Amino acid sequence: MSLPEGVQRREFDGGEALATRGEPVYGEPVVDGWRRWDAHRSKLGATFAHGLDTGLSGGNGVLYLGAANGTTVSHVADFAGPTYAVEFAPRPVRDLLEVAEDRPNLFPLLKDARKPETYAHVVEAGLDAVVQDVATRGQADVALANRRFLREDGRFVGAIKARSEDVTREPEAVFEDVLDRLREGYEVLGTARLEPHHDDHLAVVATPK
Ligand SMILES: C[S@@+](CC[C@H](N)C(=O)[O-])C[C@H]1O[C@@H](n2cnc3c(N)ncnc32)[C@H](O)[C@@H]1O
Repeated sequence: MSLPEGVQRREFDGGEALATRGEPVYGEPVVDGWRRWDAHRSKLGATFAHGLDTGLSGGNGVLYLGAANGTTVSHVADFAGPTYAVEFAPRPVRDLLEVAEDRPNLFPLLKDARKPETYAHVVEAGLDAVVQDVATRGQADVALANRRFLREDGRFVGAIKARSEDVTREPEAVFEDVLDRLREGYEVLGTARLEPHHDDHLAVVATPK
């Protein structure tokens, strides 16, 4: 499994872990300038830790949907080019702005990921990746709406939270429905359940079709 350039497996006190180079954000340990990327706090980190081949690169830019207070997107901005971080809740965006102070390539956007037309004038097209962790109903619809920003062979890398779609159904049944809808605009290249790091989450790697 190849990691994006700028993401490495490094030695920390507790053993080997993924890491990126940058200023610390959430109290994570830093050794020789490398910040440990905590897979328990990051679905993208867990996706790498589970060995899913994401094909993720970031030099041409990444659109990150559901940035919250910046835990994961800070690691993405450490290895990627322009990194657009969409989050619709004002409180976490305040923290995100602080995270962006150390990262000139990180652009927080207080926007609704279901309405890409509201940020299409800021976010360039032809991006390498859309990374999604929105934990809301209609996760496939969000992915489809933001497909327009990806280059032809770009990657969608998302974490689908079953309980955000329907708390009453079996996660596997929910995942099947979400994947079926996703296939209306993407070819699904791989999936992995993210337990034990994140319960009832499915990591999905896809490319536009
Ligand atoms: C699980 S948290 C994200 C955690 C973050 N990705 C991380 O690893 O650091 C999900 C976030 O998605 C945001 N969100 C949900 N629906 C959204 C939407 N339609 N547009 C933008 N953000 C949304 C929520 O406000 C919440 O902060």
